[in-house]
Amino acid sequence: MSRGPLNLLIDMLAAACLLTMVATGYVLQFPLPPGTNRTHVLWGLSRHEWGAIHSWASLGLLVVLVIHLVLHWDWLITMFRHRFTWMQGGDAGRGRQAGFMTVAALITLAVLFALATHLSVRERIVPLHPLDEPSSDGFTATKEQPRASQVDFWKEVMPLFEASCTMCHGPLRQTSGFRADHREDFFSPRNGGALVVPGDVTASRLLNIISGQQPAMNAAAAHHLPPEDILLLKKWIESGAAWPDGKQ
Ligand code: HEC
Repeated sequence: MSRGPLNLLIDMLAAACLLTMVATGYVLQFPLPPGTNRTHVLWGLSRHEWGAIHSWASLGLLVVLVIHLVLHWDWLITMFRHRFTWMQGGDAGRGRQAGFMTVAALITLAVLFALATHLSVRERIVPLHPLDEPSSDGFTATKEQPRASQVDFWKEVMPLFEASCTMCHGPLRQTSGFRADHREDFFSPRNGGALVVPGDVTASRLLNIISGQQPAMNAAAAHHLPPEDILLLKKWIESGAAWPDGKQ
């Protein structure tokens, strides 16, 4: 490929990366602002997934820019020589040498930055939202939680069931005759007790199942949810397990 088409390709790639960055940046700032990761999706992607596209696009742009620099190296050197008289005296190799030194310095800086960030990440000692702090066993809160923390069923609970349960307990498969998208399957007695007893965290078998306290059951791992999900379902049950009419 001669220089012309190659340059065009590089420029188009750079433009594509830049546009992707701007568009995903907009998504992360406005339609899906911080705090919406667990509760909202845009075109099937969560905030984290949009964030991942955003960072890969910026990495892509960086790579394209480096290729661009390499392709225009000689032009750059000529420019510098023209501008900065101190470079003019030297032989042709000197500009190149300075260039390589610059690139080496930049790479060193990038590596140092990556190392420093990796080594400096710390776990927060004080959680961002004290109420959301899961206790050691995941769902028995150490202190009473105020009842005021209402949970939005359609925005928080159903998306959780859809993400973690309905592939095995939904429209396509109803393993154990249970559907996670059917209200009565949660509230009517089955296998020795209802899954959800509104307001009664201890009697609600759902919490045992999702907190890994039934290791003998099949697909036990699929039922073991992360602490923040357990906490959300616990709050939902504590606050009365509302399942308002809606899309059913
Ligand atoms: C990978 C598939 C899979 C996923 C995902 C899954 N389950 Fe199950 N589930 C099963 C299987 C298999 C059984 C049968 C277990 C047994 O009988 O040992 C079962 C059984 C059950 C039962 C009946 C057991 C009882 O004690 O009543 C309930 C309730 C249940 N699952 C709820 C859930 C919930 C809630 C989720 C989401 C958090 C979920 N499951 C996710 C496969 C799955």
